[in-house]
Amino acid sequence: MASRINLGYNSPNMTGGQKILLSGVKPTGRPHIGNYFGAMKQFVELQDQHKALIFIADLHAITTNQEATSLRQDTLDLAIDYLAIGLDPAKTILFRQSDILEHANLNWIFNCLTTVPYLQRAHAYKDALAKNQEVNVGTFDYPILMAADILMYDADLVPVGQDQKQHVEYARDTAEKFNRVYGGATFKLPEPLIIEGLKTIPGIDSQKMSKSKGNIIPLFAEDAEIKTQVMKIVTDSKTPEEPKDPATCNVFALHELFSQDQLPELRQRYEQGGIGYKESKEILIANLIKFIAPLREKRQAIAADPNKVKAILKAGGDEARKLAQAKMAVVREKVGLNW
Ligand code: ADP
Ligand code: TRP
Repeated sequence: MASRINLGYNSPNMTGGQKILLSGVKPTGRPHIGNYFGAMKQFVELQDQHKALIFIADLHAITTNQEATSLRQDTLDLAIDYLAIGLDPAKTILFRQSDILEHANLNWIFNCLTTVPYLQRAHAYKDALAKNQEVNVGTFDYPILMAADILMYDADLVPVGQDQKQHVEYARDTAEKFNRVYGGATFKLPEPLIIEGLKTIPGIDSQKMSKSKGNIIPLFAEDAEIKTQVMKIVTDSKTPEEPKDPATCNVFALHELFSQDQLPELRQRYEQGGIGYKESKEILIANLIKFIAPLREKRQAIAADPNKVKAILKAGGDEARKLAQAKMAVVREKVGLNW
């Protein structure tokens, strides 16, 4: 039997005593300000104090996107987006999920510990079922692949938006189950990291802003697109003079993110009356442009050299693979798959 393998990256020497942070986003279209404030911004802010691994969840993306050319493009685009918001490959291991074959391997091992009724309780599965009777097995198994992503690297913290909280709970349950069935403490229990008080960011139609719903303000939008999208934000039909409730206004929800300096004044004008939705939207447009334009310029510069971006992903993949292979050696021994 192979000797027990010591996972070097768990030792304080390899992580410098830092906690391990891991997250991913699916390459399923242009990221939007909801993705940014809900999750991606935290990746950047936390990369200095943590051992960070951030990946492109392309295996999750193929549960819905089965068009190879667009998947390749969306994957490269997301890598550029990550770099443009400030993820630094010198600090963060950036990689493509599918580049590490071990994820699917661990997913299978976890599948064999997972029951069907347990997965049937997942919100995302129930939503998919409500929309389409013929849900594919990948969508059904989505939380368990995600558990493999997280547990593979002994992640302590998983920064995600509120809607992903249940998935991190599935990862915790899966870690507990493996540890119970095979004995020992092979997997660490991860914690979701969700920004306190951050509401799910509404789209221009007032539903959750989501890449798949066509209701987004893209994070790297052109000025003209910012204007059209903001002007389309759904409001009630109150006149400028009427008092308005900031808590239920979708325009105001975005002011909370982009108009920090003017917020007290805006709130007062909403509550007392004296601001129309058109003016409120114009203020928001100006602030969004101020925020987005520099990000967009940085993105354009990075996009000019796609080979450099691919090389960054390859180097990150090589690093992640070493960690994954070391972990899988432990798992294979536990399960009895090594000789
Ligand atoms: P989408 O729903 O747009 O396809 P993803 O499922 O790829 O987005 O989510 C990527 C990350 O962004 C996740 O951590 C998710 O919780 C977060 N997120 C997505 N939409 C929003 C939103 N409207 N508000 C806050 N966070 C969000
Ligand atoms: N399900 C996540 C989302 O839709 C993406 C994801 C896949 C992920 N694997 C992960 C997030 C592991 C955090 C950790 O956004």
